[in-house]
Amino acid sequence: MPAIAIIGGQWGDEGKGKIVDLLAEKADIVARFSGGNNAGHTVINEFGEFKLHLIPSGIFHSHVDCLIGNGVVINPRVLIAEIETLQERGIDVNRLFISDRAHLVMPYHILLDALEEDARGKNSIGTTRLGIGPAYTDKVARLGIRFGDLLNKDLFHKRLGPILNHKNAIITRVFGASPLSFDEIYQEYCNYADRLLPFIRETSLMVNEALEKGDTVLLEGAQGTMLDIDFGTYPYVTSSSSTAGGACLGIGISPRRIDKIIGVYKAYTTRVGGGPMPTELKDATGVMLREMGKEYGTTTGRPRRCGWFDSVATRFSARLNGFTGIALTKFDILDTLPTLKICTGYELDGSVLDNPPPNFATLEKCRPIWEEVPGWQSSTNHIRSFDDLPGEARQYVKRIEELVGCPVDLISVGPDREESIVVRPIL
Ligand code: IMP
Repeated sequence: MPAIAIIGGQWGDEGKGKIVDLLAEKADIVARFSGGNNAGHTVINEFGEFKLHLIPSGIFHSHVDCLIGNGVVINPRVLIAEIETLQERGIDVNRLFISDRAHLVMPYHILLDALEEDARGKNSIGTTRLGIGPAYTDKVARLGIRFGDLLNKDLFHKRLGPILNHKNAIITRVFGASPLSFDEIYQEYCNYADRLLPFIRETSLMVNEALEKGDTVLLEGAQGTMLDIDFGTYPYVTSSSSTAGGACLGIGISPRRIDKIIGVYKAYTTRVGGGPMPTELKDATGVMLREMGKEYGTTTGRPRRCGWFDSVATRFSARLNGFTGIALTKFDILDTLPTLKICTGYELDGSVLDNPPPNFATLEKCRPIWEEVPGWQSSTNHIRSFDDLPGEARQYVKRIEELVGCPVDLISVGPDREESIVVRPIL
């Protein structure tokens, strides 16, 4: 079998972790390809509840190799803590591999993320302040330090010196903050290198060799299409390519290798951080969705903004990614509602838009055009077959398929692996 990409179709937090954990049962490799520890994937299985930020959600399956690809930016301190937590809870991490081309998140990235956000004041992006944007900035500016560089401590020493001088100049002269110490960072990162050395590999080669022999590879997305650096609600986006295109770059495979692309959509919409969100509900229904869906950030704990399903944004992401199927998550959160709304278009100055406008300020002016549909008002947690869903629930799924233009393959009706309805087998 070839590669299957699992991509967030909204603003992140769609529940990709559960879908990957479920599909990993039949996979040989699970590979992360973008983002950093700004991502938070919650997985609930027979070992308990886990919140992963960097380690792919396939780690709970003893037959699966888990790869962190070149497109990910890695904070080694966070990665080591995650490895240790898993080990303490009896999970084998010997099948974890890190790309030698993956960039490191350095202490100055974290400091600069906070200083830049503070300087933006009321126009702040609402980043996770974990240094992700500054780490990607340095990658493109050719000022990044990669895992491979750490393997040679002399080289690391030579690279860190001028880079830190440059960063300290910005930290002190632009922001008036205190400079960071070379010796402390050098020593700290040399210790991380010693600890992580056994995990470092040329992961692109590993994936390509696995695909060549017919193994199944899951490409695990982070964040969502509407947060993508190119196609998201710029500048209120993350700094990497969270789309299917990013999967090829971030792991090092040809686009020809990807056979299926699954778009993960929450059955409603959430967003954390700043930026436009046309279907946001600032009323009691929004609060109810947040409380019933436990919509608080896995990484930052921030309350998520909640709203109805937005078929303009999701149709856009389906087209951009070429989704072959949808995994619809948190379906059960809607179980008690008497009526639901779906946004079918945006109204802007008397015109109807079928596509999100590229400019965030224009998107902020768009008003959703609602279609009201009846709720099913009964529990779906225990349902395992599409035909057993109440009629209104089936109608809701069918309407989403119609509006997005893509079939629903899987419906998640609860956080546990078993709480899933397979409409069309993905693997
Ligand atoms: P950054 O990725 O930390 O630079 O944050 C940029 C924007 O992306 C902010 O609005 C964050 O809240 C958002 N973001 C980053 N990672 C995630 C995620 O995993 N889920 C949801 N939002 C995210």
